[in-house]
This record gives sequence, C-alpha cells and structure tokens, in this order.
Amino acid sequence: MKFLFVLSALASLAAAQSVVIQAPAPGTTFAPGQQFVVDVDRPDTITGSQDVSVAIGLLSCVGQAPPGTCDGVNTTEEIGTVLFAGPYTPQLRPGGADLFQNFTVSVPDGFQAGAAALSVAHFTLVGELAMPVLEVITETVFVS
Ligand SMILES: *[C@@H]1O[C@H](CO)[C@@H](O)[C@H](O)[C@H]1NC(C)=O
Ligand SMILES: *[C@@H]1O[C@H](CO)[C@@H](O)[C@H](O)[C@H]1NC(C)=O
Repeated sequence: MKFLFVLSALASLAAAQSVVIQAPAPGTTFAPGQQFVVDVDRPDTITGSQDVSVAIGLLSCVGQAPPGTCDGVNTTEEIGTVLFAGPYTPQLRPGGADLFQNFTVSVPDGFQAGAAALSVAHFTLVGELAMPVLEVITETVFVS
C-alpha cells in the first residue's frame, strides 16, 4: 500500500517536471538550412528535481503518416536527425515564473520537404531518490 502510494506520488512528481516546447509554434514552416530557436520550458517546481540533458531531433513524417501530418509516428522509438544533444540547464525566464533554455539549431541541408516531427527528449532525476525519468515531447512542423 505504502509502496503503491510512493509510486503514484513519484508519478505525479515526475509529471510536474515535464517540459514543454515553448517555441517554435506547432505548424511553423522552415526552409532546409534555416536556423531556429527551440525554447524548452519547465515549471519552476519546489519539489527537488535535477535536470540532466535534452536531445532535440527532427524526423521526416513523409511516407510514414498521411500527407501533411505526423499521425501515428512514434517519437519514443526514434527522434530522427539529432539537431542537439547535451546538458539542460534552464534559467528563470526574465519577468516569468517558469524556467527556460533556448537552443539554436538548424534544419539540415537537403532535409525532406513536408511534415516533420520536432522532438525533445528530456532526462531528469526526480525527488530525493533521484528517480531517472526520460520523456519525449513532440510537435509537428513543416519543411519547405
Ligand atoms: C511507441 O513505442 C514505444 C516503444 O516501442 C511503445 O512502448 C509505445 O506504446 C508506442 N506508442 C504508441 C502510441 O504506439
Ligand atoms: C528565447 O526564445 C524565445 C522564442 O524564440 C524568445 O522569445 C526569447 O527572447 C529568447 N530568449 C533569449 C534570452 O534569447
């Protein structure tokens, strides 16, 4: 019983550490070679958690999903071309209540035109027990 409680408490704790892609907006169109900022946000929670790293990937959905969509593409299995992989050390947003970090990345030259899944894989250690949590969040963007 107690164990179950601890597990569910950890699960909600883990959910509270979840990141969001603040920018770019879903549906944004980029040209191959174009630079853009991926703004990775998380709430400034009082519960202890230690962010470790993120990986940002871009996966073409062309031929894997109905045209113009990424429906059914599972980015927990692959994030595609890795645009960034390294430490995640978010800072308090000026004038805001959340933590953020901007990553400047570029669409690879010659990237397949069409819908693409932009993913952020986020690795964090949650709570006093340092429970390792890996989450992958994704949005659909377009490459022209
Ligand atoms: C995505 O893939 C993972 C790992 O294979 C699997 O656990 C999960 O159920 C899949 N999700 C969907 C929506 O298919
Ligand atoms: C981070 O990126 C967002 C979205 O592009 C932008 O509004 C903000 O000014 C950037 N912040 C910094 C400090 O570069």
